[in-house]
Amino acid sequence: RLGLKTNFIGKNVHYEESVESTQKIAHRLAYDNAPEGTVIIAEEQVAGRGRMDRKWHSPKYTGIWMSIILRPNIPLPKAPQLTLLTAVAIVQAIEDLTGLLPEIKWPNDILIRGKKVTGILTELEAEADRINSIIIGIGMNVNQTREDFPVELQEIATSLFIEKGEKVSRSDLIKGIFRNLEKLYLLYLEEGFLPIKFLWEGYAISIGRKITARTLSNSITGTAKGITDDGVLIMVDDHGKTHHVYSADIEL
Ligand code: BTN
Repeated sequence: RLGLKTNFIGKNVHYEESVESTQKIAHRLAYDNAPEGTVIIAEEQVAGRGRMDRKWHSPKYTGIWMSIILRPNIPLPKAPQLTLLTAVAIVQAIEDLTGLLPEIKWPNDILIRGKKVTGILTELEAEADRINSIIIGIGMNVNQTREDFPVELQEIATSLFIEKGEKVSRSDLIKGIFRNLEKLYLLYLEEGFLPIKFLWEGYAISIGRKITARTLSNSITGTAKGITDDGVLIMVDDHGKTHHVYSADIEL
């Protein structure tokens, strides 16, 4: 029974000083049948990846750059739920450890005072319609000073250190994330997405607001109404037409 197994996320940790991207290593390990809960953590990434083909700035010793391998037995379209679940786990870990109050911008940006403190990149290994593994990449700005960020990020990104005014233990944060993620993941496997959806909505800032959703090829402006049970964003545009947004960047 699942409910009793409470210690698999982070049991098998690969720690690296410097890598191109922990996602890349995680893909290889997943392919080689690494067990569920395997984690790759690096002190530095020289080619960190963000969503939508962007780079992810990952300087040495200041942040948490890690990838976690999960192997849920769920249909492919439900995979985005795991991203939302991870965002909740991270927000709760930050709250518990620092008292700061982060918010979630759909689908997976974690903001403090409107600036991005954490990003999540979820990638899949699937064969036909079966998920083999989900690789959850987490990039968290922890102890950077403002000057540690490239100029073009200084207005849009922040770190826990900047917000809190004191250094935050990266290992305590990592442990908190593992604990919360495992707890929520087991809840999800037993009871489905609904309890996670309620938690997520409690932290979400985009819902009920006028937003613009941009994809690489398209943009929609309207009011964010909520998320579907699969984690897809529901928007109503100015003509009253409803849109389902699977992946986009949101401007508030
Ligand atoms: C985003 O665009 O917001 C997602 C950023 C995800 C960054 C993390 S850092 C660890 C993992 N390895 C990568 O190359 N990217 C993810």
